[in-house]
Amino acid sequence: MKNQLNNVQEHEKTLGLFDLAILGIGAIIGTGILVLTGIVAAKDSGPAIIFSFLIAALASGLIGLCYSELTTSLPNSGSAFFYAWVSIGKFVAFLAGWTLIGVYVTTTATVANGWTGYVQSFLEVLGVNLPHRFLMTPAAGGLINLPAVLMILLMTIILTRGTSESKLINNFLVGVKIFIIVLFIVVSLPHIRSTNWHPFLPYGYKGIFTGASAVFFSFLGFDALATSAEDAKNVDKNIPRAIILCLVISTALYVLVSLVMTGVVSYTKLNVSEAMSYVLIVKGHRFVAEIVSLGAVLGIMAVVFAFIYAGSNILKSMSRSAFLPQGLAKVNVHTKSPNRAIWLVGIFSAILAGEFDLHYLALIANIGSLMVFALISLIVIILRYRYPELKRPFKVPGGKIIPMMSILICLVLLVSISLTAWLTYLAWIILGLLVYFFYSLRHADEFNFTKEE
Ligand code: ALA
Repeated sequence: MKNQLNNVQEHEKTLGLFDLAILGIGAIIGTGILVLTGIVAAKDSGPAIIFSFLIAALASGLIGLCYSELTTSLPNSGSAFFYAWVSIGKFVAFLAGWTLIGVYVTTTATVANGWTGYVQSFLEVLGVNLPHRFLMTPAAGGLINLPAVLMILLMTIILTRGTSESKLINNFLVGVKIFIIVLFIVVSLPHIRSTNWHPFLPYGYKGIFTGASAVFFSFLGFDALATSAEDAKNVDKNIPRAIILCLVISTALYVLVSLVMTGVVSYTKLNVSEAMSYVLIVKGHRFVAEIVSLGAVLGIMAVVFAFIYAGSNILKSMSRSAFLPQGLAKVNVHTKSPNRAIWLVGIFSAILAGEFDLHYLALIANIGSLMVFALISLIVIILRYRYPELKRPFKVPGGKIIPMMSILICLVLLVSISLTAWLTYLAWIILGLLVYFFYSLRHADEFNFTKEE
């Protein structure tokens, strides 16, 4: 077994607080706010969607604190996979890693799917109409969502050139994304009419929770930061700060966007996938709507970029520890990127994005994430019992209360997700069990902390 902890020390660290925060925001703000907000306001929560966002933010904050304790105590690109390996055992570790691979692949696919909506709306205003069958998945009556497939492949190629080069592109895309959201808020603000906020709770309190389990997708990505722990400078301070910073910024933007959106137009009219452009067009700001669509087209690419990166990091970590064939952990000598792992994640995500429906993919990503997040919170408690002497540069305050609240809130959100999504997740786990019993069980060892040190 390789010495994981020493590997961490040997690794070259390139990411400071600013880079980490940008990487986090790059992963967090995307299809969730740009595509799901309108749909969830119309169907699930009404103007009370701001409470759905606040519940999802609270959940993410609690989970983020648990992540921070683990990622600073055990910095490793394997994230939940590695923490479970250390604290519980190789079987649970495999399931956590396998789930995370599924999560990152389905999230990439969902985000790319949503991206096509903005590409289409941008081109339509310019008078360009692409053939319907190459824009829609079979579920929506088309053949393939080709733009989504091509965009994922482009991001995959950029990532294989190494993170330091791609960091520049990512920084630019994050800037664009924040700019269009602020632009939307500023331009729409004068059009708010408080009558649009009545009724505020059209679907009752239940709607707030159903909405929260859907908009939770908008916060996915703060966990991707934990997978870059090996590349982070001053990991013990920078990772918790970056996670909290990203969550505060994104929550503030999400709450403002949803307040403005539901204040300008009645929630009943928001069931459209490019809600921001729609609201602007309704109020006569066609040119601003074009800028927002173009910005969304560029900005959403950063999310795809971050999730392929996170997915390949998990694959690399699992392969390096012999849970998956070790060839997958091989890094390119020039760029230091795990190219095989990156291509594998890229190709699978492209296939899903091309062929499956956005809403369905988002729910699967949410189930997988919430399962992993509940596990992460449990591991904080287990690790404190099993390894009380472990050096914890950041410790979640208040004993076991926060990890337990975090588990509870994950369970509440999990029960609000549909059965079809649950069955798909189950099928993915059954496939994983085959891989585990035919491969990992024979090749991977249990983690021995004393030996590893
Ligand atoms: N949080 C990411 C998004 O909203 C996945 O696109």
